[in-house]
Amino acid sequence: MNQYFFIFGFIGFFKFTIGCNPTVTTASGLLAPSKICSGDLIFEDNFDTIDEKTWMFDNTLGGGGNWEFQWYPGFDEENAFVRDGILKLVPTLTSEKFSEEFLYSGHAVIPDDQCTQSMWDGCDRRGSSDEIINPIRSIRLDSRYSFRFKYGELEIRAKMPTGDWLWPALWMMPFYDTYGGWPACGEIDLLEMRGNENLFDETVNVGINQAGSTMHFGPDPGHNGWPTAHANRNQIPPYTDGFHRYRLRWTPTQIQFFYDNHHINTVKAGEGFWKRGDFEALGLENPWINGTVM
Ligand SMILES: *[C@@H]1O[C@H](CO)[C@@H](O)[C@H](O)[C@H]1NC(C)=O
Repeated sequence: MNQYFFIFGFIGFFKFTIGCNPTVTTASGLLAPSKICSGDLIFEDNFDTIDEKTWMFDNTLGGGGNWEFQWYPGFDEENAFVRDGILKLVPTLTSEKFSEEFLYSGHAVIPDDQCTQSMWDGCDRRGSSDEIINPIRSIRLDSRYSFRFKYGELEIRAKMPTGDWLWPALWMMPFYDTYGGWPACGEIDLLEMRGNENLFDETVNVGINQAGSTMHFGPDPGHNGWPTAHANRNQIPPYTDGFHRYRLRWTPTQIQFFYDNHHINTVKAGEGFWKRGDFEALGLENPWINGTVM
């Protein structure tokens, strides 16, 4: 018995001290591991159920600052549910839930303690013939309270939707406002695309055959260096055909984007994003002056 326990203990010791290669990845949030070794899988959701501890569902009429059409209703089972290990996000018409009349004369109020974004009249809107109530109910969910990370690899396996006006997106947003408001703390868009089947810019399909990745960064909304960190990929068959793997690899010196095995873009930190955006030439103040190049 003694020997058995000795050997068992030795293997544990060996694994603990030599098996953990250090990593630059850091993570926080309710579900983040306290210790991370290089190569560890540190967050995963296969959507056998929807765990409301993991996911925060946006509950707002705010429309993302672009007066977008969607009303994010929180966790509404009409718009978000799981089937066979797949999270389905299904937009519905507001007029079907209430009435056509509601769009033009209704009053939508989300109580303060449930509303997740009050900007852009996000918690209270009245319909009129000039400005109707958001006509679509759709879903946005994020892991802000359960899991946040810096540096590492992220992969999302997903199937994109077809339909005019649809704009599916897979993003990473900053949790802290260390450097100020958007886009001073950055935004990493792993994927955005349009759901239109037949939308062309001259001869280029800018609908379901095109998807792109983008990083937003700059000292204020009027100064955003995103065009230097954006890339599209067109492909046949379209992104709406089956599931694809959308992946990013983030290190202290660069961020790379991949769709399946296709390289989409590599954004190198180089001498820093202030330089990349050419903001110095505009005489602006650098909020990142004390930060790293990334
Ligand atoms: C950078 O650090 C210096 C010295 O601590 C400080 O005075 C300055 O305010 C900081 N600048 C920014 C933009 O954080």
